[in-house]
Amino acid sequence: MLNVAIVAGGDSGEFGISMKSGKQVLSHIDREKFNPFLIVVRGKNWNCTVDRKKIPIDKNDFSLTIDEKKIRFQVVFNAIHGTPGENGKLQGYFDMLGIPYTSCDVTTSALTFNKSFCKDVVASYGIKTAKSIHLFKNGDHAVKRILEELSLPVFVKPNNGGSSVGMSKVTLEKDLNDALTKAFNEDTEILVEEFIQGRELTCGVLRTEGQIVSMPVTEIISRKEYFDFEAKYKKGLAEEVVPAEVSRYNSERCREISQMLYEKLNCKGVVRFDYIFTGEVFYFLEVNTVPGLSTASIVPRMARAHGWTFSELITRLITEVV
Ligand SMILES: Nc1ncnc2c1ncn2[C@@H]1O[C@H](COP(=O)(O)OP(=O)(O)O)[C@@H](O)[C@H]1O
Ligand SMILES: [Mg+2]
Repeated sequence: MLNVAIVAGGDSGEFGISMKSGKQVLSHIDREKFNPFLIVVRGKNWNCTVDRKKIPIDKNDFSLTIDEKKIRFQVVFNAIHGTPGENGKLQGYFDMLGIPYTSCDVTTSALTFNKSFCKDVVASYGIKTAKSIHLFKNGDHAVKRILEELSLPVFVKPNNGGSSVGMSKVTLEKDLNDALTKAFNEDTEILVEEFIQGRELTCGVLRTEGQIVSMPVTEIISRKEYFDFEAKYKKGLAEEVVPAEVSRYNSERCREISQMLYEKLNCKGVVRFDYIFTGEVFYFLEVNTVPGLSTASIVPRMARAHGWTFSELITRLITEVV
């Protein structure tokens, strides 16, 4: 039986969400095939709670010692959203130890976590993205330059963020400066991006049995102005329609683009490509390489619509890498 380390937590504002994802994986993983341990990674404290006792992880070899017995892990199930699980940092550590994991590698994680760099690469494959400016702290981020190059409304977001933290939609020129400050409080680099009016569609893709497979396209309908933090995690503020009510042709196009991007970006595990669909064009927004896996999350629902239980999805993700 394989010892599986489900890593959760992390150092971003998505800690709580990641804990929910991790616990959901722990409760659904097939225990006839796998022996799971939930490992909480928070700063330098990495622990596993066994019989109500917090046991520290030995970072030299990512092992656990319970009653003088050393437990090693054959595989890591990555459920950390944001840093260090989604940006390549933890991937580098596991690569050095030679432990396989269920998510993208160092390069792909680092690239895709950087919204601006990722958009440039995605655009190079012929996929449309919103016009934007990438700004660095201490650099020149004059409001004047933004207004010269982009038209309002714009989204101002931390470049390496998630869960819509530190983000604003700016319609009036006078609000731009505050929005920049807010985003710079979360990150040393930010993205100012033109607003695209359209429907928000998302497509989950994974590699299973050696094949790249996309799951049914899903529409996100937010009752807030956009899919902000509250809309993401408060019940009733957003509705996810699986499968999305789009024509078969457009759903196929969305799945094809997503599968192509999965291959070109060299993704691993299950990832979610987000778009704004204007009725003609799919504008790539971002890719989530460690998407949410809690009961309320989109990926488990997509999997169900595809015909897989959550357990089966977990088994597929693990067996693909061991
Ligand atoms: N350029 C844009 N045009 C329209 N809506 C946007 C744009 N950028 C972001 N949004 C809205 O804001 C939400 C969060 O933005 P996103 O870039 O996905 O950041 P996060 O990583 O925090 O999820 C999106 O789901 C969408 O509703
Ligand atoms: Mg998003």
